[in-house]
Amino acid sequence: MAVGTRTPEPFPPEVRAEFRHRPDVVFLNHGSFGSVPRCVQAAQDAWRERLEADPIELIGRRIAPLLGEAKRELAAFVGGPAEALGFVTNATEGVNAVLRSVPLQPGDELLCTDHVYNAVLQAMRHRAAETGAKVVVVPVSVPSSGQARMLEQILGGVTPRTRLAVIDHVTSVTGMRLPLEAVAQALPPEVLLLADGAHAPGGMALDLQALAAPFYTANLHKWVMAPRGSAFLRVAQAHRGGVHPCVISHNLGQGFEPEFDWQGTRDFSAWLAVPAALAFLRHLGFERILRHNHDLACWAHRLLVEGLGVEPASPLDGSCLTCMATVQVPEPLRRFGSVEALQADLRAVDGIEVPVMAWSDRWWFRVSAAVHNLPEHYERLLGAMQRRLRG
Ligand SMILES: Cc1ncc(COP(=O)(O)O)c(C=O)c1O
Repeated sequence: MAVGTRTPEPFPPEVRAEFRHRPDVVFLNHGSFGSVPRCVQAAQDAWRERLEADPIELIGRRIAPLLGEAKRELAAFVGGPAEALGFVTNATEGVNAVLRSVPLQPGDELLCTDHVYNAVLQAMRHRAAETGAKVVVVPVSVPSSGQARMLEQILGGVTPRTRLAVIDHVTSVTGMRLPLEAVAQALPPEVLLLADGAHAPGGMALDLQALAAPFYTANLHKWVMAPRGSAFLRVAQAHRGGVHPCVISHNLGQGFEPEFDWQGTRDFSAWLAVPAALAFLRHLGFERILRHNHDLACWAHRLLVEGLGVEPASPLDGSCLTCMATVQVPEPLRRFGSVEALQADLRAVDGIEVPVMAWSDRWWFRVSAAVHNLPEHYERLLGAMQRRLRG
């Protein structure tokens, strides 16, 4: 049977009841800010209670070992030692920490693809303007013919002046998995790789120990379903001494772990609740989650592409997808005037929350496939789009 022609077995109602989405809204945008299950929220609340009951003991004296325990569990999930991990608030912060830590000279080049997340591109431009470096944006074509061609295109942007390559593991707008592992293998040793894994943990099996990337940052609030404010930066041993958090605090010069553990007084509960989110993934069965989300994304991709009669952005065999799929908005719907107007209309008229984006001269919408989604959610979106096409 062709990929994307069968829907996966949905998660049972008691699992879907862990999510608190409004019952009158079809939620197809898990990819932006995630969704925190009730049990993970309860674990974060419990941490807040503990911190509140004894703040000096827990924050003043014991925060490093408490974060150490959370990082050990995270390390077992993403691969590699806990010492390589620093908690950050979000992937944007992880990217900024690396950009500020890598020494750059005038004329150095910072490489990314045209699928780069806009906030990351802005951070690269800002750092380039400060240092006299130059941002080089290499196009990765859509429709994509697959991973081999993407690799060729990314490597085609490397020059003798390339100092840092910032490459997404899974892109935001196009929802595609880029050949990060192959890029890491193929880059010349003098080019540092910063992997933007914002959508990767929880969306695919990771072994960051095996990935030849000096820097990897990722969100945990998306597909790991940890509280917002939880993300990490992983730095390979050879580079750890030179990387500092965005916020310089007491522990400057004491090493990677102490510097990232203490970035000033803050609410540590999101980081401390990460093990509870990992336990939820284990409880549901991580393999099952991956299979469910991928199969649902592939099925929805085919449904929407065929139902709207548009060219797919990536192969229908799902070889470039994890748990999101991006589909072209049919040309006639540009009569809405702006992507915001179409997105708002889908929400107001049909109660569908789905991102609509302008990218590379075309309009796109992206569907997420999470454990709380059902096939009928995408059928409802298709119906809503078709009704708009009819007039
Ligand atoms: C590819 C990519 N990189 C970075 C980010 C930034 O994430 P955050 O806003 O949590 O920092 C996102 C957010 O969606 C993303 O999709």
